Amino acid sequence: MIKVNDISLSLSGRGILKNINFKLEENTSLVISGPSGSGKTKLLEIIAGLENSYIGEIFINNKSTAELGDELYNTLGFIGNFRLDNNFSENIIYDLVFGLEIQNTPNPEIKKKLDKLIKDFSLEKLLGTEPNNLSGGEKQLVNICSTIIKEPKVLLMDDAMTMIDTDKKKILFDKIIYSKKYTTVMITQDVDIFSDFDKILFLDKGEIYYFGDTKTFLKDHRKKLIESGLIAK
Ligand SMILES: Nc1ncnc2c1ncn2[C@@H]1O[C@H](COP(=O)(O)OP(=O)(O)OP(=O)(O)O)[C@@H](O)[C@H]1O
Ligand SMILES: [Mg+2]
Repeated sequence: MIKVNDISLSLSGRGILKNINFKLEENTSLVISGPSGSGKTKLLEIIAGLENSYIGEIFINNKSTAELGDELYNTLGFIGNFRLDNNFSENIIYDLVFGLEIQNTPNPEIKKKLDKLIKDFSLEKLLGTEPNNLSGGEKQLVNICSTIIKEPKVLLMDDAMTMIDTDKKKILFDKIIYSKKYTTVMITQDVDIFSDFDKILFLDKGEIYYFGDTKTFLKDHRKKLIESGLIAK
């Protein structure tokens, strides 16, 4: 469960987010969208505990993130948009298991989870490659895999699948969104995938334009999507 309670954010004297309120039930999915600069990334960073200069309160599973401290790291998985090139070691396997090692997971369990991940996403052929030489989509896939191996309750993704092949994307959607195993929040401007999510939060100039059922939004707010430049006339 994620509860966002009257969040506002100003940076360098500029209002970035204003009075954001919404609640997402456990094991449901939310897509956050809106024009460029509308505050999507900042909102996700606030929920993830990466941006702290906001006012308001965030609750994850009924606990304020301000009180969660280190527990936040085990509860949340954050997959950002711009960490593609800088966040890899020299070895993909090490990248994949890093989070589990930090959590002091026993080695046999790490191996079991790693083997399953490699099989589920056909990662075998990537394992010999140096992470820096992976393609953009492959990096995104390794990034996502290194987060879901920890099985966080809440998964936050900022445009994290843009370069991933359709077949792999389908597996990811099956495992992450349709499985209902996670409470998922994903930022995207890809209108075609909106309907895969239970709810949508559409931001405009730092304010909520719409929060609610995705299919209703798609039916009633086409004009807004055209105005926002997300679909063609
Ligand atoms: N440190 C900062 N100081 C001032 N303004 C900032 C700062 N960081 C971000 N902003 C502004 O906050 C606004 C929201 O940024 P954000 O990155 O959340 O947008 P976004 O909706 O994710 O856009 P995009 O779709 O392009 O990724 C932008 O107008 C940006 O210029
Ligand atoms: Mg962004």
